[in-house]
Amino acid sequence: MLTGIIVSVLFLVGCGLVFSALLLLAERRILRYGPCAIEINDGKKTLEVDGGGTLLAALAENDIFIPSACGGRGTCAYCKVRVLEGGGTIGPVEAPYLSPAETKENVRLSCQVKVRGNMRIAIPESLFSIRRFRGHVEHKRPLTRDIVEVRIALDDPAEMPFVAGQYIQLESQPYRGRESVMRAYSVSSPPSDTRAVETVIRLVPDGICTTWVFEILREGDSVQFSGPYGEFRLSDSDRPCLFIAGGSGMAPIWSMLRDMKEKRSRRSAVYFFGALTQADLFYTEPLRQLEKELPDFRYVPALSREPPESDWSGERGMITDVLARRIPDMAEYEAYLCGSPGMIDAAIKVLQSGGIPPDRIFYDKFA
Ligand SMILES: Cc1cc2nc3c(=O)[nH]c(=O)nc-3n(C[C@H](O)[C@H](O)[C@H](O)COP(=O)(O)OP(=O)(O)OC[C@H]3O[C@@H](n4cnc5c(N)ncnc54)[C@H](O)[C@@H]3O)c2cc1C
Ligand code: FES
Repeated sequence: MLTGIIVSVLFLVGCGLVFSALLLLAERRILRYGPCAIEINDGKKTLEVDGGGTLLAALAENDIFIPSACGGRGTCAYCKVRVLEGGGTIGPVEAPYLSPAETKENVRLSCQVKVRGNMRIAIPESLFSIRRFRGHVEHKRPLTRDIVEVRIALDDPAEMPFVAGQYIQLESQPYRGRESVMRAYSVSSPPSDTRAVETVIRLVPDGICTTWVFEILREGDSVQFSGPYGEFRLSDSDRPCLFIAGGSGMAPIWSMLRDMKEKRSRRSAVYFFGALTQADLFYTEPLRQLEKELPDFRYVPALSREPPESDWSGERGMITDVLARRIPDMAEYEAYLCGSPGMIDAAIKVLQSGGIPPDRIFYDKFA
């Protein structure tokens, strides 16, 4: 009986998948939309593309790169553009990510909008300066059991100007039957280092791109990426800074701190870094060195799963609890957060109850 139900369910799921695949094929092959014109920013640029694909892909094929951290799955909401004409109706995948104000402004997720005819769209001018780069892996070195540092030397173009806090979108290559995907990685090197890009990448079990980075990618290999993306960056204010990160969330903060050192910044800063155990800490020595080089900088690592009997004499517990204990009055600070959505949401609550208004809390969620 149970086997019969399982077989029926599998049969129905299989039919559904085949039907979706046929619909996609029909959309691509049978329904030929022919060439479609995409007019951007009131005629600043007009592209002629083949209809049938997504707006995000059509723009990327023409070297206009819209941020897209989830690789077009409709889960990151980074790929918003204004579609003024020709976008059709808002689909069920997009709807939860669009506020009433955005809907009124014709904002859409470009990875979910199909090019089926001529379109008019509007995008921020800054996106025109994002480029595709080709480089090679200068080094790949382990930092912890599940984090590597990957340094990519740029071949063409040879330089990428960027601001500390920005990220690139790395393109993995097909392997073991898995397709090529694009994933966001924050640049960890300082902006003065324009001829290479350093990243800090954590292995996500069964993740397509990170498995490729850990198991396939070798020193000397060619890689492609686009960038720089993102608005996460230090403000011009001279308020004291709270940096809060966990795991590979270290990357943009490490870039910002090195940038502060090179620019001889006098801003006061405390960096709270969360890890599980001592084995998950990295860059400890250079961060301790930075405490001597910056006029007012403290590094506070906190371990949440360090065995009680170990020789660790630093902070223990969740990074958010350590932060609340060490800095009870945060009213004067600005905060910069990077890491998992869970850690960031928890930290935002602590920061707001410590007196920091939302407009002084900046973050990049590694979602
Ligand atoms: C702005 C930004 C900056 C980032 N910077 C960094 C960084 O500096 N370092 C870093 O390590 N990471 C960073 N990330 C995260 C990074 O972009 C990737 O999300 C991460 O590396 C996982 O990629 P992956 O291809 O290996 O995993 P994926 O293949 O995307 O899978 C991730 C997880 O989702 C599950 N999954 C797979 N497919 C689906 C699906 N269709 N629906 C739901 N779940 C699915 C998988 O099982 C896996 O558990 C950043 C993210 C953002 C948004
Ligand atoms: S690319 Fe992530 S939602 Fe569109």
